[in-house]
Amino acid sequence: MDDLTPESINVATWKIPSPLGIIGSHANGEFNGMTASWITQVSMDPPLIGVGIDNKSVTFNLMNQSDFFTINMFSPEYTKVFVKFSKPAEYSEGYLNKEPVTLTENSVPIFDNATVWLELKTEQKIDFGTHTLFVGEIINCKTLTPEERVAYMGDTRMKYGGVPRGGHE
Ligand SMILES: Cc1cc2nc3c(=O)[nH]c(=O)nc-3n(C[C@H](O)[C@H](O)[C@H](O)COP(=O)(O)O)c2cc1C
Repeated sequence: MDDLTPESINVATWKIPSPLGIIGSHANGEFNGMTASWITQVSMDPPLIGVGIDNKSVTFNLMNQSDFFTINMFSPEYTKVFVKFSKPAEYSEGYLNKEPVTLTENSVPIFDNATVWLELKTEQKIDFGTHTLFVGEIINCKTLTPEERVAYMGDTRMKYGGVPRGGHE
C-alpha cells in the first residue's frame, strides 16, 4: 500500500461530496454555532441524523451536557455564514456572531436566516477517536424555501476532513 499517504487520504476524502450546516448547541447558559460538514441521515424510522463532532470543540462540550441540538442549512447565496462559524461564536441575546437566532422550547438556537432547520434530540453518542458521532432524532424541522437547494461544500473553497492537522496533532 505504498500509495497510502496522509496526502492521498486527504485528496480522496475531500472528494466526498459534503453538505454544509451550522450546528446550534446550548448548555448551562452557554450557546454556540459551529460550521459542520459531517452530517448524514442514519435511519428512516425513527428519523435519525448523525453528526461528527470534534472532541476538542466547544460544541462537543455543549452537546455532551445537553440532549438537544439543531442543524441549520442556508442558501447557496449565503455561504459567508460558514466562515463566521468556523471558530467559537459569541452570544448576545437573540444573536450568535451577530446572526439572529431564536431559541427552541429546549433552548437550542435556530438561525433566523436558515432556509432549512432541524431540531434533534440526542439518542446515541459514539466516540471514534478525534470525533464523536452524535445521533439525534428529528423532533422538529422546517423548510422555508422548498424550491431552492441549500449550500454545500462545493459552493465554497473550504475543505474539512482527511487526516489530523493542527489541533489534532
Ligand atoms: C467547511 C468546514 C466544515 C467543518 N466541518 C466540521 C464537522 O463536520 N465537524 C466538526 O467537528 N468540525 C467541523 N469544522 C470545524 C469547526 O467548524 C471549527 O473547528 C470550530 O471552530 C470548532 O467548533 P467550536 O466552535 O464548537 O469550538 C468544519 C470547518 C469548516 C471550515
